[in-house]
Amino acid sequence: MKKKIFLATTFFLIIVSLFTYYKSTLKIKETFKEQENIFLKKQYYLPQNLDRYIHYYSTHPEVSIEDIIAIVNVNKDKRPYQDIKKANINKGILTLINKYNYLDENYAPKDMIIIDPAYAYAQKQTLKEVNEAFINMYNDALKDGISFYVVSAYRSYNYQKQLYAKYLINYGEIYTEDISARPGYSEHQSGLALDILSEKVPMAKFQITKAYKWLKKNSYKYGFILRYPEGKSYLTCYNFEPWHYRYIGVKDAQKVYEENLTFDEYYAYYLDN
Ligand code: DAL
Ligand code: ZN
Repeated sequence: MKKKIFLATTFFLIIVSLFTYYKSTLKIKETFKEQENIFLKKQYYLPQNLDRYIHYYSTHPEVSIEDIIAIVNVNKDKRPYQDIKKANINKGILTLINKYNYLDENYAPKDMIIIDPAYAYAQKQTLKEVNEAFINMYNDALKDGISFYVVSAYRSYNYQKQLYAKYLINYGEIYTEDISARPGYSEHQSGLALDILSEKVPMAKFQITKAYKWLKKNSYKYGFILRYPEGKSYLTCYNFEPWHYRYIGVKDAQKVYEENLTFDEYYAYYLDN
C-alpha cells in the first residue's frame, strides 16, 4: 500500500513539474515574441542580431530601441578591439575600417598619386579617384568663396604607429583612444580618408568655420562623408572630427547623408553581405 502511495505521489509530482516547466518555456517564448516584436518593425533591424538586441535591452533598459539596434549593428555591444576581423578590402572604396575591422600591417593601396601641393600641406598621397573628387569639390567650394586644403591623407601602418605612440605619451591612453586609431585600424591607411582644414585655423576651431559648414552640407555630392560626426561617438568610437572625410563614392555618400547614418551603421545594414 505504502509503495502504491509513494508511486502515485512521485507520478503526480513528475506531472506537476512537467506542466510547470512547459508553462515556463511557454512564458519565455511569449516574452521573446513580445521583445522580438519591439525590434522587428524598426528600421535597420537585422534578424541575425535579434538575440543581441534582446540581451542589450535587458541590460540597458534606459536606451531607446532605435539606439539599441544601431549599437548592436555596429558591434558596440562589444568592447572596441574585442572580436576583431580583417577588413573586407574586396569592398574597394566601401571597405569598412574601424575598431573591429583592421588592415594588415603590410597593406598599402595601389595606384596612389601625390596630391598637387596647391591643395595640400606638404607631400600627401591618396588614390587617384579620391584626388579627382577632392579637386572638383575644392573648385566648387572656391566658387562659393570657401577654401580649404588637405592636411593628412594616406598614412602607412608605421606612420600611424608613431602617431599613436606620440599621442599616448602626450595625452595618456583614454584620450588617445578617443582621437586616434591604433596602427592597422585607421582609415588613413586605406588611402580613402582626407583630413581637411582651413588655412590659419587650428584643428580645434575648424568646426566653427564656413568651410566646415560648407563641407558638412556639400561633401556628399563629391562622394565624401563626415566620418566621425558630432553626437555619434557612441557608435563611431571616436570624438567628433569635423576635419576627417572618408571617400565612398557619390551614390553611397548621398544615401549616408540622407539617412543621417554613420558609415559603420550604413555598412552593417546595406553592405555587409
Ligand atoms: N583620427 C582618426 C580616427 C585616425 O586616427 O584614423
Ligand atoms: Zn583623419
